[in-house]
Amino acid sequence: MLDIRPNHSSSLREKQIDQLKNRQLAAADALGVSFEKPIISVQSLTKSYHIGSMTVPVLKGIDLSVKEGEFVSIMGPSGSGKSTLLNVLGILDRYDDGEYVLDGTLIKPLSETEATRHRNHLIGFVFQSFNLLPFKTAIDNVAMPLYYQKVPRKQREERARKLLERMGLASRMDHLPSELSGGQRQRVAIARALVTDPPLILADEPTGNLDTKTSEEVMELFTEINHEGKTLVVITHDEEVAERTRRVIHLQDGRIRH
Ligand SMILES: Nc1ncnc2c1ncn2[C@@H]1O[C@H](COP(=O)(O)OP(=O)(O)O)[C@@H](O)[C@H]1O
Ligand SMILES: [Mg+2]
Repeated sequence: MLDIRPNHSSSLREKQIDQLKNRQLAAADALGVSFEKPIISVQSLTKSYHIGSMTVPVLKGIDLSVKEGEFVSIMGPSGSGKSTLLNVLGILDRYDDGEYVLDGTLIKPLSETEATRHRNHLIGFVFQSFNLLPFKTAIDNVAMPLYYQKVPRKQREERARKLLERMGLASRMDHLPSELSGGQRQRVAIARALVTDPPLILADEPTGNLDTKTSEEVMELFTEINHEGKTLVVITHDEEVAERTRRVIHLQDGRIRH
């Protein structure tokens, strides 16, 4: 006769463990603490550019950990390697040595296809120059990442519309980027970064082309997004922008300054 008890008891135990976990999570939630799991974990990471026969070291041994739900800024002089680092973190560019683990996955061995899948699933990008498609309307720009995820058209439009409404751009959905102000363009770009609901947002000088008031609005939006649980890493030149984040990392000549 088959004895089903071990299975039964193990599933019961799993259930109890689940219940316990849920209770712990609820308790942690109530206390406002997280389990501080790193989403970004970088160790001794290096990267050089090769120009002809010359090797230019840019990242010279970066150690960095960003926990889920953090809101950090990276500051540093021009040429210190900020964009290079962000491109590596965003799996837009490869690194040479060291280790980068994103959301539990070691990035180095990934194939191009796997890297793209991880990037699309985990990361939303915001850039200084907005990087919107000039011949697409605001709503089409926002919906674009969902097209690559093969989401049906109706759902793509619905989600893009909701996000643009949230960005205060309800009356600008059908405008081209050239018909929008800098601040409006950046809000379209932020909506696009959020449309796939990624846990991590990477922004490279997102306020670099904006005036003070508009920069503040963008940082206000980022703060809101962070409060909703997303992890944000923002590169900036601007002290005031950095002050709006909860941790500042200083990069100098390819190294983190402690
Ligand atoms: N694609 C590239 N090819 C060669 N050198 C590059 C490339 N991108 C950046 N660099 C060089 O790497 C250094 C760091 O650049 P970058 O990461 O853009 O710095 P930051 O964003 O802090 O201004 C600079 O000296 C820059 O000239
Ligand atoms: Mg840069």
